[in-house]
Amino acid sequence: MTKVLITGITGQDGAFLADQLLAKGYDVVGSVRRGSTPKTGRLDKLGVTDKLRLVSMELTEFSNVISVLRAEKPDYIYNLGAQSFVADSFEHPHLTSEINYLGYLNVLEAIKIQGLDCSVYQASTSEMYGDVLCDPQDEDTPFNPMSPYAVAKAGAHFLGRNYRAAYGIKASNGILFNHESELRGREFVTRKITSQLALLLEQGGAAVRLGNLDSVRDWGYAPDYVAGMILINEAKVASDYVIATNSISTVRDFFRSSAIAAGFSPVFEGEGVDERCICEKSSKVLCEVDKKYFRPSDVNYLRGDYSKIERELGWSPTTSLEEMTEKMVVSDIELARSGHPPSF
Ligand code: NAP
Ligand code: GDD
Repeated sequence: MTKVLITGITGQDGAFLADQLLAKGYDVVGSVRRGSTPKTGRLDKLGVTDKLRLVSMELTEFSNVISVLRAEKPDYIYNLGAQSFVADSFEHPHLTSEINYLGYLNVLEAIKIQGLDCSVYQASTSEMYGDVLCDPQDEDTPFNPMSPYAVAKAGAHFLGRNYRAAYGIKASNGILFNHESELRGREFVTRKITSQLALLLEQGGAAVRLGNLDSVRDWGYAPDYVAGMILINEAKVASDYVIATNSISTVRDFFRSSAIAAGFSPVFEGEGVDERCICEKSSKVLCEVDKKYFRPSDVNYLRGDYSKIERELGWSPTTSLEEMTEKMVVSDIELARSGHPPSF
């Protein structure tokens, strides 16, 4: 039976990936790092926790990585484990670099030293384009990273390319643009908006406090993107691929459509840090700008060109931003109504 090892299985993408690989009949092993409470909330939500096996592995601990790979001998590895919150990387640049750069080096070295016959997928990111040098961005666009997170990911990206060239390791990079879902972490801006709007609607919560409303992102739906990851890792030839939608929205527009989906009548007024959003019907303040959420340097614009993966592997996005927003808002309203905060 085909065996797969997923690092970062407890995260958004790890949970969807486990679900899709189990549906293909694969033996799925997920690596988790120890915590004071179990972190299987997303896997539980998808009903897959009992269908896979969890092993303890800390990506920054080389002896741990090498012994897990020696014991498991997977056919495919997906390296999704990361400190994935860009804002946090400014507070913890060292830790972020250890996990996101050295963590992947540990995986590649463990494959090389043991001569493992496997394909490995690295979770590269559109953040590497940073202050973008071309529009839209594709596999040939130079990187211009704007955060310790993006610098570490760019380093890992080039490590994968180097181990492919130097040692013939089947290492692919998926350069994924932002992808969201009902299982997205609540600190990322889309889920922060949908979860806090749901609380405002159902429990009279406070206005959502946000930073850079002008930031533009190319947002897609995580399950679509995870399907693309599998195509990349199972392709005959290892390569680098962009996954994106090629459509864009500002944070402000995402907020507006989420508020409309939740039944509010949002109107923005004011400028800069004085900008806010009011519900025309109820006069409730829905959103305010808070300097605290601005980053020392931000990525202001991203739009991906996914034509390579469409042409070579037949992937294209199937869920529109409007459909995704609706799914996220409906799910968060249901969660707010249930009164039981979920563990994701
Ligand atoms: P996520 O929800 O934050 O999940 C991150 C996962 O990494 C969690 O399972 C976390 O485990 C694990 N992890 C963190 N530090 C670790 C360590 N030291 N050792 C082992 N595991 C560790 O992220 P995601 O949205 O699913 O993203 C998956 C990957 O794709 C990440 O590498 C991210 O950087 C990358 N990416 C994401 C996007 C996006 O828009 N979502 C776009 C491009 C690239 P805990 O549960 O213990 O915290
Ligand atoms: N998180 C957050 N919170 N972001 C805000 C807020 C806020 O209150 N207000 C405005 N923003 C802006 C950020 O400044 C950024 O420009 C944009 O919204 C998106 O922020 P995030 O949702 O935190 O995502 P990200 O783009 O920084 O990073 C995500 O996507 C990357 C792919 O491009 C993460 O998933 C990364 O792991 C991933 O690599």
